[in-house]
Amino acid sequence: MNIRIFLFLSAICLIVASCADESPTPSTQNTNQPKTYSEATAEWFAGGENGTVFMSGSKAYQQPMPFIEDNAELYRAFFRGEQIFEKSFVSFEGQGYSGLGPVYIRKSCIACHPSYGGHSKRVDKLDSNDSRNGYLLMIYDPNTPNLALASKYFTGMTQTSAVAPFKAPIDESGIRLEWLPYTDEYNNTYPDGTTYTLIYPKITIDQDAILFTDFDMSKHAASIEATIGIYGVGLIDAISDEDLRAEYAYQQSRGYCQGIIGADIDETGLNPYYPGKHPGRFTYLCTRATLDNGPGANALWNITNVTRPDRTYHYITDEYAKVMSQDAAVQQALGQTEEEIYTYLMSKSLKPEMTQEDYNDFMVWHRAVAVPAARNLDDPNVQHGKTLFMDSLGCAACHRPSWKTRTYYKPQPELSNQTIYPYTDLLRHNLEMYEPGRVQICRTTPLWGRGLLPTISGHSDMLHDLRARNYEEAILWHGGEAQAAKEKFRQLSKADREALIKFLQAI
Ligand code: HEC
Ligand code: HEC
Repeated sequence: MNIRIFLFLSAICLIVASCADESPTPSTQNTNQPKTYSEATAEWFAGGENGTVFMSGSKAYQQPMPFIEDNAELYRAFFRGEQIFEKSFVSFEGQGYSGLGPVYIRKSCIACHPSYGGHSKRVDKLDSNDSRNGYLLMIYDPNTPNLALASKYFTGMTQTSAVAPFKAPIDESGIRLEWLPYTDEYNNTYPDGTTYTLIYPKITIDQDAILFTDFDMSKHAASIEATIGIYGVGLIDAISDEDLRAEYAYQQSRGYCQGIIGADIDETGLNPYYPGKHPGRFTYLCTRATLDNGPGANALWNITNVTRPDRTYHYITDEYAKVMSQDAAVQQALGQTEEEIYTYLMSKSLKPEMTQEDYNDFMVWHRAVAVPAARNLDDPNVQHGKTLFMDSLGCAACHRPSWKTRTYYKPQPELSNQTIYPYTDLLRHNLEMYEPGRVQICRTTPLWGRGLLPTISGHSDMLHDLRARNYEEAILWHGGEAQAAKEKFRQLSKADREALIKFLQAI
């Protein structure tokens, strides 16, 4: 073929392919995905009939659920909310995204959740200006039973940035992140002789990188946590407390792989739809119970320190306010006294920097980011992997395949009555991982959509600190309550191990 015709045809193919990628209708890119929802095809609809998008290209983690596009007002709110997630906040007043600081963690949500990813990427340096670095830093006392955060000095999620003249509690250049090799009890070798490598993180912080002169870093430890996916959290929110408590009760009765349920959180005044107590189900430690008082709703305030009608105070420690208000350079730059600066930093009645309307739009977006459909489920090898996952290996004991959302979910009724496939029990289990940092007993991470990580986020890093560089390593880090499952995985033939991973990539 004439080279110019060939290039022309290739260009058309590319255009067609990328258009197909943006199409909201089921794509046949991978296999013959079903186009209509029925009991027989339900499993392909990972986010349920109403919460799934049939897409597998680079934007598959950031799509609105299909019903959003049928309603002009929801459509407007969704995209306004999406901008709030994507936009960098600024410190000056009078703009839609004003209010950054005085001290903060990142300028935007997307800085840590690039491409809305299943996970952010493993990095070698904690640099909050690096858009791939999604790590949250925590400083804690390793000698306390619950690994208590050093909360007299630092906020729970440690701030490493500030708007001048304020100073950051920690100078990032003094934070060191190393990846060290780990040898497991099998000398990193499968029974069939195949070998593998494992790595784990170690974080150290120089004493002189810390703003507080009386804080002794040598008596403390630092821990990192990576992001979890944004998509589908509305559906997880729509699961009823009763169903979550029933899963917990069932696990206690069965006598193996018994999870821990998140502690009850009283959300009276914090959740307009469901006030009262709810068990934690979000974050690795199940510290957040509902989306309205969840990791995103709180991050909008505590990551950026942007105030709003329901958060009219700073995310800040008293110790930080004291040190900053006594700092001569800060006093001089602001032309204010110690008392004035302290009063401003610790005020409980600051002016809201974000409007209620903007926040409401943000929540419409937050609930309605769709889950990508499963792919290749009809492939015989994937089917074989599924049998291993469900039956032989016992993975489903914790990675519970499906849930049905509550019969009426008040904030967004379209999310009611959906059969979803997140592959998690929303409970915490102890995998006895080597040097896990603060996340010793971790929530079972949802597995839905993870197979698209390489396409969308350009990596396949997994686990709460991203120590696993692919599915295989993620499984090999399972121990403790999942030791038996891991041991059975190790005994599989290479072909069976690969089939299991093909299944994980498909869901
Ligand atoms: C400093 C990095 C960082 C920034 C910035 C950030 N997040 Fe996160 N996010 C995380 C980490 C780490 C987790 C893992 C959860 C944890 O804390 O255990 C997470 C978890 C979440 C989850 C929970 C998923 C689940 O399944 O439990 C949601 C939702 C979320 N973030 C939304 C947001 C939104 C919305 C913003 C902006 C307002 C934001 N995040 C900003 C780091 C960040
Ligand atoms: C005892 C409960 C339990 C069992 C059994 C179990 N898992 Fe997990 N799984 C977890 C928990 C908890 C995590 C999160 C661990 C962490 O990040 O520290 C996890 C994480 C994962 C991840 C990483 C997900 C991510 O995005 O970070 C994969 C993949 C995974 N499991 C696959 C499997 C497979 C395959 C099996 C069966 C061979 C299995 N698991 C058995 C509890 C379990």
